[in-house]
Amino acid sequence: MAEFRFINACFRRPVDRIPVWIMRQAGRYLPEYRAVRERTDFLTLCKTPELAAEVTLQPIRRLGVDAAILFSDILIPVEPMGIKLEFNPGPLIADPVRDRSRISALQVPDPGRSVPFVLRTIERLRRQLDDQVPLIGFAGSPFTLAAYLVEGRGSKEWTVLKKLMYTDPVSFHLLMSRLTDMTIAYLNAQIDAGAQAIQLFNTWAVILSPDDYEEFALPYDRRVLTSLKGAGQVPRILFGQGSSGLLELMATAGADVVGVDWRIDLAKARERLGDGVAVQGNLDPAVLLAPREVVIERTRRVLRQAGSMPGYIFNLGHGILPETPVENAIAVVETVHGFLPT
Ligand code: CP3
Repeated sequence: MAEFRFINACFRRPVDRIPVWIMRQAGRYLPEYRAVRERTDFLTLCKTPELAAEVTLQPIRRLGVDAAILFSDILIPVEPMGIKLEFNPGPLIADPVRDRSRISALQVPDPGRSVPFVLRTIERLRRQLDDQVPLIGFAGSPFTLAAYLVEGRGSKEWTVLKKLMYTDPVSFHLLMSRLTDMTIAYLNAQIDAGAQAIQLFNTWAVILSPDDYEEFALPYDRRVLTSLKGAGQVPRILFGQGSSGLLELMATAGADVVGVDWRIDLAKARERLGDGVAVQGNLDPAVLLAPREVVIERTRRVLRQAGSMPGYIFNLGHGILPETPVENAIAVVETVHGFLPT
């Protein structure tokens, strides 16, 4: 089996260089991605294995990152549960799921039948990557999926979601439980198709108090992470945006790696997470809009804060911004690879 520095770092084994990949590394900041998107709408792109594989490979060629991430979206597997989904550019659900009857009607389909294009994309990518770098599969965490399903779109306050959660917790837990069943089947199908690592995106856990995360979201993240095939072989990353209030809890979710954003010093994050998990992060994506010297200096600062313990993967603290100059993304990767772990 091929040796990958990304996989080694996830399992806190020694590495020759610090591994790096970038959340949303395939996307609008790349001219070659925009060229594909001029001809194809986002959903069609996600559902066409040749195109989805092609845009997955674009940042591998351009940036020299240490992992590829499947091109798709966290909302893709909810469409076959019975949800009408559009993108503009974020997700839009015209008929949000807000009561017990809609929740009970949600299907948990077999991924082989409901999202065969995702599995074909993974198989195709494994052939095309030919063990150059490992392939990360992913899913939205049940809570972050529930947020979009109930709210119908991204939100600042997420009040419709929270109102349902506090007013009708039984229905809310039923929704979480359906989404959890779907996510486990979906991720295990990705692993069977060849995904070599998994990232669970709990982007919106940040809106919960620690007590509410523990009650309404953590048990489901834990159930997903501990139900995945390939324990000890296929690393599981749990990402939370703005999760500094939740780190100790996230460390108990069963992930091999916890991903953090820039609102916390990495050295403190590592201390609070303990040495049972690796850490991934956490450069502010907006730094990449600055001049090259600033990008390099800020990247080094993150690397210094990460310290010398094994079990570190460099990433941004959230997705790369569409207005990022490609040269700055390349400068980040070169700076990380030029930094010798001590
Ligand atoms: O990382 C990668 O390169 C893989 C691809 C990927 C996309 N979305 C592609 C995408 C991944 C891993 C996601 C995850 C995702 N999608 C999350 C979790 C991560 C995060 O960013 O917090 C969330 C919350 C979504 C939902 C979503 N999809 C939003 C909010 C948006 C709009 C974002 C924006 O920048 O405007 C999308 C659309 C989307 N997903 C795009 C891409 C490349 C832009 C679509 C386009 O080309 O027009």
